[in-house]
Amino acid sequence: MSRVLVIGCGGVAAVAIRKCCQASEIFTDLCIASRTVSKCEALAKSLESKTKTKITTAKVNADNVEEVIELINSYKPDLVMNIALPYQDLTIMDACLACGVNYMDTANYEPEDTDNPEWRAIYEKRCKESGFSAYFDYSWQWAYRDKFKNAGLTALLGCGFDPGVTQAYCAYAKKHEFDTIDTIDILDCNGGDHGYPFATNFNPEVNLREVSAPGSYWENGHWVEIPAMSIKREYNFDSVGQKDMYLLHHEEIESLALNIPEVRRIRFFMTFGQSYLTHMKCLEDVGMLSTTPINFEGHEIVPIKFLKALLPDPASLGPRTHGKTNIGCIFTGKKDGKDKSYYIYNVCDHQECYKEVESQAISYTTGVPAMCGAMMLLTGKWNKAGVFNVEEFDPDPFLDALEKYGLPKKESRDPVLVE
Ligand SMILES: NC(=O)c1ccc[n+]([C@@H]2O[C@H](COP(=O)([O-])OP(=O)(O)OC[C@H]3O[C@@H](n4cnc5c(N)ncnc54)[C@H](OP(=O)(O)O)[C@@H]3O)[C@@H](O)[C@H]2O)c1
Repeated sequence: MSRVLVIGCGGVAAVAIRKCCQASEIFTDLCIASRTVSKCEALAKSLESKTKTKITTAKVNADNVEEVIELINSYKPDLVMNIALPYQDLTIMDACLACGVNYMDTANYEPEDTDNPEWRAIYEKRCKESGFSAYFDYSWQWAYRDKFKNAGLTALLGCGFDPGVTQAYCAYAKKHEFDTIDTIDILDCNGGDHGYPFATNFNPEVNLREVSAPGSYWENGHWVEIPAMSIKREYNFDSVGQKDMYLLHHEEIESLALNIPEVRRIRFFMTFGQSYLTHMKCLEDVGMLSTTPINFEGHEIVPIKFLKALLPDPASLGPRTHGKTNIGCIFTGKKDGKDKSYYIYNVCDHQECYKEVESQAISYTTGVPAMCGAMMLLTGKWNKAGVFNVEEFDPDPFLDALEKYGLPKKESRDPVLVE
């Protein structure tokens, strides 16, 4: 028996909510809240006759702490699932602390306004000290560790696929396969085709900010930063085939470097087709990825927000996306004094996801782990006070839940390594 407040009702949240409704013995009561309440109402209505979970809806602007506090106090949830945008992470964490409720999300904090001078000063100091220049990093949310610990509350950060399952794979490898891990390569392959010349698979603004940032990896105790898309490899993915992939900065590298300190190198690669890269470069070159407002015919517009309005809604890609995703981690390290390598990954089919939850596989592979992470917190399988990343919890019950709810693992003990 539990009451859960889900904030956000976009592509990822819709999957998480549909999956929660498949486990109504745990998710007995659910409130879907977002800025656009009509979207929440439409989803609630479509689930009405299909689940025993009692669903209500609410309107909330989660940029406003007071509004979130008021909603939490009136609904009295056991857990708040933040599946809105990274911009709302801190306001929702503040509201959870004020109301004494557990918190979780799927992406680490990044500010909407990267021109804010107060934020910028802290950001520039962090760039110099840490050595990577992405706008998002964990320092903001890790700063809440003592507050959550002292309040006896849990905040679970980044519980999607990557970040999320990839870290559970690391914890699983450490627990069952290795005494020490030497290298981790996280490989995110989307072999799906939606038929558009250019579209993003999740929120376009957050996605384009992420992939257009300089790449970076962790090596020998520090960050190595490289120009965006300047390291390319080819890999032959199970069930997908040969793909080009590019080294990106990604948030789980930061927490894995901290939590698996013996690791010598951690890299993250994502596959991109040439059409995506050409469009992105062109949009970047003409200033369409900029987050700085410009004046256009008397109106202030933010170029990347205007671009978002032009691009297909990721939630609409479900019916037209065909093909598979393959996301996982390749490890090298030592077991019982011997060198070994190990690959753990999931393959997910876009059309199978659409048949089940009316969504493409990117939202599915994020929404299912969010629901399984919520299940770990609600059933007490993950139970400690403080702010934690996924690899800090026991991976076994989480991977069992993923297996049961649609994201089974595959393994290889003789993988092709990435050069
Ligand atoms: N870990 C992973 O593997 C992974 C992978 C993909 C995505 N993600 C993360 O998943 C999250 C959701 O992505 P998505 O593709 O589902 O995005 P999306 O389709 O754009 O949905 C975002 C939702 O948040 C709501 N929202 C935005 N600002 C809000 C505010 N101030 N107050 C209340 N609600 C607000 C939006 O409501 P409106 O309709 O009113 O705008 C919308 O319902 C993002 O944080 C993304 O970074 C994680």
